[in-house]
Amino acid sequence: MRIGVAGVGRIGTMHAAHLASLPAVDAVLLYDPIDGRAATAAATLDKARPTDTAAGLIEQADGVLVATPTDTHPALVRACLAADTPVLCEKPIAADLAEMTRLVDEIEKGGTPVLVGFQRRFDPAVVELRRRIATGELGPIYHVRATGFDANPPDLGYLPSSGGIFRDLLIHDLDAIPWLVGEPVTEVYASGSVLVDRAFADADDVDNAVALLRFAGGAHAVLAGGRHDPLGYDHRIEVLGGKNSVAVGLDPRTPLTSLEPDGPQAGPDAYPGFPERFRRAYLNEMRVFTDVVAGRAENPSPARDSLVSLRLAEACERSRRTGEPVRLEGAS
Ligand SMILES: NC(=O)c1ccc[n+]([C@@H]2O[C@H](COP(=O)([O-])OP(=O)(O)OC[C@H]3O[C@@H](n4cnc5c(N)ncnc54)[C@H](O)[C@@H]3O)[C@@H](O)[C@H]2O)c1
Repeated sequence: MRIGVAGVGRIGTMHAAHLASLPAVDAVLLYDPIDGRAATAAATLDKARPTDTAAGLIEQADGVLVATPTDTHPALVRACLAADTPVLCEKPIAADLAEMTRLVDEIEKGGTPVLVGFQRRFDPAVVELRRRIATGELGPIYHVRATGFDANPPDLGYLPSSGGIFRDLLIHDLDAIPWLVGEPVTEVYASGSVLVDRAFADADDVDNAVALLRFAGGAHAVLAGGRHDPLGYDHRIEVLGGKNSVAVGLDPRTPLTSLEPDGPQAGPDAYPGFPERFRRAYLNEMRVFTDVVAGRAENPSPARDSLVSLRLAEACERSRRTGEPVRLEGAS
């Protein structure tokens, strides 16, 4: 199987390396408009070779991974749909709700598989958590806590185009938590502060935020996220049910220091960033994508679900700005 990678930047290079490591993949084709970038990346990878155009990449590949800047996603996805080539597109598949809605409708009309790169959906521990919730092993879900803190803020020049902390950072848990709980969110309340760097205020954004989600059945989820954690990159999900209480992301590399005598201590091996924390998830994401391309697996991250998380992110942003809870009418 030949898989094309459009965009060989930060995340595209990582995905290309994971794809090259899979026995099911015979060739990884790379395209990037920056001169020499695809050739340089190809030289470091087994099975990889550069291509000259995006059209050539799509034509030669059995499946295409889109890892380009967000504003280029809709055009590349549409080009793949026109060729009936399955796609894995990095999140978000489109920058705003109107464009995303149009694109999702086109995707569903065409029937070509399009997976969205929300990596939590491919993380083996998160998948197991979902199974336990769905089978009732945890009992009725009372409460969910999601923690998502970057070690350091992104390049500050990126902030004005990021869409704000809910669309950019908390979007991952706004996707994963309703998917895990399996119920619609009926109300959100959100709050945020600038505590790390005034540049966030200058960009009309915040660098620490919380969101409270209320589910139709009465369970609550509290999502917390921010742009700085002095100990490392911290992502955890904890679920308390009537029969059990479990966590993902809690392991010897979690950047958290317990003050109890025998409690875990954060050390130099704490996760430095998302590529290390989600290594198993990203690798599995590529495995699942190739299985979908081969027609052996269902798509666990369909495009329509992206509308749910984007609507929630927009509701959180509105709540943070107004200080009021926002009710969601049949939206998620
Ligand atoms: N799932 C995740 O955890 C995660 C993490 C980081 C980024 N992302 C997403 O991945 C996407 C890429 O982010 P990044 O940080 O790798 O960006 P980046 O800027 O490092 O890389 C993007 C690359 O795409 C290339 N490019 C631009 N236009 C192109 C086109 N039309 N065709 C082919 N290549 C093109 C650029 O030259 C660049 O090399 C973004 O949408 C971002 O939101 C997802």
